[in-house]
Amino acid sequence: MSTIARIGIVTVSDRASRGEYEDRGGPALLDYFKDVLTSPWEAESVIIPDERPLVEETLIQLADEKQCCLIVTTGGTGPSPRDITPEATEAVCEKMMPGFGELMRQESLKAVPTAILSRQTAGIRGGSLIINLPGQPKAIKECLDAVMPAIPYCIDLIEGPYLTTDPERIVVFRPKKKS
Ligand code: MTE
Repeated sequence: MSTIARIGIVTVSDRASRGEYEDRGGPALLDYFKDVLTSPWEAESVIIPDERPLVEETLIQLADEKQCCLIVTTGGTGPSPRDITPEATEAVCEKMMPGFGELMRQESLKAVPTAILSRQTAGIRGGSLIINLPGQPKAIKECLDAVMPAIPYCIDLIEGPYLTTDPERIVVFRPKKKS
């Protein structure tokens, strides 16, 4: 297995996919991982509209074919009729990881009262951890800073590559191995 971690970055936005609006979520995610990760990684970035079959298909392709150990989506988590990212995520995951959404909303609530409007969730498909983030670049950092300490160990548990971070930015928690 390659030791280079592949990270899927999925911008879910009707307007960004049509080019009517500059994608700011995808670049914010790239900058975040560049800033935090010290182990080798590469990105697979895509911009797609808020169409549930397409979001599901993209997540499946990034997980099964591209073998991304981590897939992060940005956008489409709110209450509007076109917001379907959490439903698409749940449909393709074998196991939901509700703690991610709970913690991200709790931390986001310290920044904005509208944090509760995000239905963001996370789950596991095969060897991939899929995490939803809101569309706002500011929200991406607020949410990822909250859950990043637990992400490398989650990826260890699904037998993915060993991720390390800059401890000045994020201190990863790995429970000590039993002897
Ligand atoms: N979380 C953080 N940390 N910061 C934010 O600015 N915006 C909220 C919420 N979560 C926000 C946040 C708002 S206003 C909405 S509508 C929801 O995320 C859903 O955003 P999305 O539809 O772009 O995913």
